[in-house]
Amino acid sequence: MGHAIEIALFVHLLSVAVWVGGMVFAHFCLRPAIEDLSPQLRLPLIESVFGRFFNWVGIAIIAILLSGGFLLMQFGGGHATWQLHAMAGLGVIMMLTFGHIRFALFPRIRRAVQAQKWPDGARAVGTMRRLVVVNLVLGVVTIGVAVLARGY
Ligand code: HEM
Repeated sequence: MGHAIEIALFVHLLSVAVWVGGMVFAHFCLRPAIEDLSPQLRLPLIESVFGRFFNWVGIAIIAILLSGGFLLMQFGGGHATWQLHAMAGLGVIMMLTFGHIRFALFPRIRRAVQAQKWPDGARAVGTMRRLVVVNLVLGVVTIGVAVLARGY
């Protein structure tokens, strides 16, 4: 158990990097690069890219929950500092937002692409884009709160 905390922190931070970094790439690099494509090209590409990215986010979330839960227990559980509880709370809100994107919006995009209903797909992509921005902002705030948890 000598290095359990360091290993958990490593897994935690790596997973946060995959999730938040992926959102930065999607929002600031992919989105502007493909916004002028026709819906017939853009929507299948979005479906294919995000289908893959969301699998990675799913794995990252499981790893964040396991490592974060373990770390929280090591740092006092219910008696941990408010910053750690704030991190966990913000993290749960981010996970619920992701759940809505993955299990409500993404299937709508997938169905629209299969049925070639481009306006329906474009609407769902627009909502997904706004929620990714919400999660990106929450992610940055959570990282800030996590750093505050250090107390210096
Ligand atoms: C949902 C459940 C989560 C729990 C229970 C949790 C819990 C923890 C705990 C206990 C630590 C160790 C703090 C320390 O070393 O002093 C930690 C570190 C950290 N967490 Fe989380 N976390 C969660 C989600 C997140 C999310 C979603 C993010 C970012 C988007 C995040 C970012 C960080 C960062 C950057 C650190 C390193 C802080 C440091 O050592 O300076 N965590 N987390």
